[in-house]
Amino acid sequence: MKKLITFALAATMLAACTNNPVPQNKSFMDLARQRYAVREYAQTPIGQTKLDSILEAGRLAPTARNVQPQHIYVLQSPEAIAKINELTRCAYGAPVVFLVCFDTDSVWTRNGSNSGDMDCSIVGTHMMMEATELGLGTCWVKYFDPEEVATAFELPANHKPSFLMPCGYAAETSKPSDKHFLRKPLSETVTYK
Ligand SMILES: Cc1cc2nc3c(=O)[nH]c(=O)nc-3n(C[C@H](O)[C@H](O)[C@H](O)COP(=O)(O)O)c2cc1C
Repeated sequence: MKKLITFALAATMLAACTNNPVPQNKSFMDLARQRYAVREYAQTPIGQTKLDSILEAGRLAPTARNVQPQHIYVLQSPEAIAKINELTRCAYGAPVVFLVCFDTDSVWTRNGSNSGDMDCSIVGTHMMMEATELGLGTCWVKYFDPEEVATAFELPANHKPSFLMPCGYAAETSKPSDKHFLRKPLSETVTYK
């Protein structure tokens, strides 16, 4: 018993030191309620294990015809982070920014439109919720010029940026915006027929 208490105490202290919450086996609904758009980040590194887990969650996402047209650039070098902060004010000083693109050569296309943004959104949602489970914050970001970003990061012509996702530990001062709490009732957004 004594050993167990010592172990629990040590685990709690380690978690506090690394800003890394002890996993709590939260349900999906708990995580969905916990998530909010984080716009202020600590500089604590995410660590490769968590990055791998977030990317793996994205890899498991469904895509049209299972083409998997996504290509994710993990911006984390000081140069890449400085560059993205010049291109958008919505990187919010995060230590990692995912630049989620789709491959225009392989994306499912029909009648002149393609599923690229939709595929990337599902991939991004998987990543966002896994980051939440890992105690990390994220923000979905559309506020950038895709062509400027593609040029600045010398992307191949077939990699079209869909969105950015800053990711990292939320700063201690971070809190949800007022908008976060405004959710329409289901009666306004759902119709049974
Ligand atoms: C498609 C999309 C684009 C968004 N673009 C931005 C953005 O460019 N900058 C930003 O700060 N937040 C952006 N957001 C975050 C939303 O403003 C935010 O999710 C919304 O206000 C609800 O707040 P919550 O995420 O805290 O619940 C975007 C969200 C989505 C889904």
